[in-house]
Order: sequence, then structure tokens, then C-alpha cells
Amino acid sequence: MLHCERIPLPELAERLGTPLYVYSAGMIKERVRAFQKAFRGVEHSICYSVKANSNLSILRLLGKLGCGFDVVSGGELERVLRANRSAAKRVVFSGVGKTATEIAAALKAGILLFNLESASELEVMAKGAAKAKRTAKIAFRVNPDVPADTHPYISTGLHKHKFGVPIGEARELYTGAAKAKYLQVAGVSVHIGSQITDFAPFSVAMERVAELVGQLRSDGHKIKYVDAGGGLGIDYRASGGGDGDKAVSEYARAVTGPLRGLGVKLLLEPGRAIVGAAGVLLTRILYRKTNGGKKFLVVDAAMNDLIRPSLYQAEHQIVPVRSGGLGYEAGSEVVDIVGPVCESGDFFARGREVPVVQEGELLAILDAGAYGMALASNYNTRPRAAEVLVDGKSAKVIRKREKVADLLKLEI
Ligand code: LLP
Repeated sequence: MLHCERIPLPELAERLGTPLYVYSAGMIKERVRAFQKAFRGVEHSICYSVKANSNLSILRLLGKLGCGFDVVSGGELERVLRANRSAAKRVVFSGVGKTATEIAAALKAGILLFNLESASELEVMAKGAAKAKRTAKIAFRVNPDVPADTHPYISTGLHKHKFGVPIGEARELYTGAAKAKYLQVAGVSVHIGSQITDFAPFSVAMERVAELVGQLRSDGHKIKYVDAGGGLGIDYRASGGGDGDKAVSEYARAVTGPLRGLGVKLLLEPGRAIVGAAGVLLTRILYRKTNGGKKFLVVDAAMNDLIRPSLYQAEHQIVPVRSGGLGYEAGSEVVDIVGPVCESGDFFARGREVPVVQEGELLAILDAGAYGMALASNYNTRPRAAEVLVDGKSAKVIRKREKVADLLKLEI
């Protein structure tokens, strides 16, 4: 029987219904500790990337562990402030299209660093800071033109992508920024993509950043921070996301090596590596069916709950919650595991070999803690799933299941 920490998953499904996101607080703490340990030799701050999983209780937990936050919208900033107001000074604001309103809110909150992504954004930033009469620390997110072997939708470090400013044009932009009365040039930022499991591109990007830091300093700028972004992947093929500790320490070596001797404070923006393996999506099998010899398991979760398989061809492990007990027949079969949404793109697995499981039984879709609930929608007017955070023997609902009435509230 599959458990989350000390709680059997069927107990949660009985009590709270399905589909249900279940997270392990213990695992999140472990991942944070792995980062703290791997980077202990350098001055650093972990700014958890809120977009991966932005539930207030998860942010609160991370805030307690000493994490800062990477936000990309006024909404995410508000979440952080709600969860832990004192964390504002540990917030970095990333994103390619920050509005003047969002910048004003972040100035008011007194965040640590703005990562700017264009000359036009610099203008809006300078105006906003002058209007608020608040000095803002800024960095440019540079695009290092480093390819990372990941899905094209989540690769960001090439010049063809919308992100950052070309590293070759950065010096000029810093010179411009230094002229603004209320802006303080403070760092260089980079993020090359997400779900990256090969460490070499991180090192190459950091080498380019280190070189730029040297040039900027010789231009007279005080560069205190290097923001290395996020992007460390997990192993979706292995249960529990693979050997997270080993991955984090190899990643730390790749990132810190090129920065040795620079005396900068390192900012890290991991998302998936912190919460990805700490969550499962629990779903119940509604129907078994066969179409022209092809077998399907129709489950009660769908692409609106977890879009990663449909959008990025992600392959999450899917396991029966009970094996060998009631509802379990010996042997395995090849099935498509699909949801009730009216699209053929609504699937969790195709042609997957799984143990034979009967209608009414539970399946756990593993490694769904990152970019699961965060990307959930109400497509097909499906209320979003509930979320529960397990810590040892305690299980706390951290987001109630939506009702159809919640969905209709804003409509006229
Ligand atoms: N920093 C910046 C500026 C980012 O754009 C991202 C992710 C992160 C940090 C965190 O990256 P992580 O450590 O989680 O890889 N929805 C996609 C992933 C999108 C990632 C977007 N940016 C997925 O489900 O795979």
C-alpha cells in the first residue's frame, strides 16, 4: 500500500475524494537541506521559484526554512507577502513582461532584486523607482546563448528565445542603468531552461556570466549578486525523482566552479528540484474500456489537473496504490491512461505497461509536485482538485476542492 510519509493514500482518498494532490512536507524539507548542504561553501540564498507550486502553505513552509522566493508576477508577489511578509527582502522578481503596476508593488514591498529583460523595461523600472522615490537593486537577465537539452517549450537560453538580453549587449545596458538616480546596479542574472539533467550547460552559462561580471566591474559597477536561475531537473523515470542529493551536489559544482574567486553572493531559483518529487496526483479509475483491441483506463483526473503529459510529452510514473490486495490481479497489461476531458490529447500515459488494476481502484501519478496544480485549469468546467500536505502522521488540507459554484462566481 502506497503511503505519503505515515499516511496510507487510500485513507486520504476516502476522506477528501479524488483527484487529489498529496504533498510530503518531509521531502520538501529534505530537498531544501540538500541545496543548503551542497552550496554551504559559498554565500548563497535559495529563492524558491514560486511558479512551480504556489500554494500558500508550501510557501509558508519554505519561508520557515529560510528560503527567499523568485516571483514572476504581481500575483506571485502577493502570495509570498501573504505567506511570509518578512520574506519580501529575499524576493527576486523575474519575468519578461513586468508591468508598471507590478513593479510599483514590488518597490513598495522592498524586494531584494529586479531582474530586467529589456531596454524598454529598464525605462519603466527607472521611472517607477523615481516616482516611488525608492532605490531599487537591479540585474539584467542575460541570455548566454547556451543550448540546454530539454523540451523546446522550457528551453530559454538561446538567442531565438524571448528571454533576457543578449550577453554581448549587456555592458551598454548596465551603463544606461547606472545613470538612473533610483536604480542601483547590483547583479547579473541568468536562467537557461527547466528540467535540465545534464550539468555542462549550467557550467558554460556560468563561465559566460563570470566573464561578464569581470567586465562590468572593470566598467565601474558594483556587482554583488549572481542569480543562477533554476532549471535543475529530476529523474521522472525513477521513483522519487531519482537521487536528488547527488544531482544537487553535481549541480552545485557546475554552478559554483566558474564563480570561484569572484566574491559574489549566489542566488538560486530552484522550483522543480524542491517540490517536484514531493507530490503525487491521486486518481481513481472510473472505467476500463477497450476500443478495437486497445485498452484504456479512464481515470477521474484529467489534463486540466496535470497538463505535463499533454503539453510536454512528459512521462510520469503511474503506480497502483494497492498491489497484491483487493482489486489486484496478477500480471500486467499495456494501456492508455486517460482522463474524462473531451480531447484525445487528454492522457497521462500511452501504451504504458502497468499491473492490471480494476475499476474503483486508485492510481498515483508520481512526481507531480511541480507544475501540476500550478498549471491546473477549469477546462470542461472541472473544479480544481484539493491539495493536502502531509507531515508525518498529520495531513492538512491546504486547498479545498473547488465547487462548480466557485467557477461561476465571476460570471455575469
Ligand atoms: N527561474 C526562472 C526565471 C524560470 O523561468 C523558472 C522556470 C525557474 C526559475 C524555475 O525552474 P525549475 O527549477 O523549476 O526548472 N511548466 C514546465 C516548466 C516551466 C519552467 C518555467 N520557468 C514543466 O512543467 O516542465
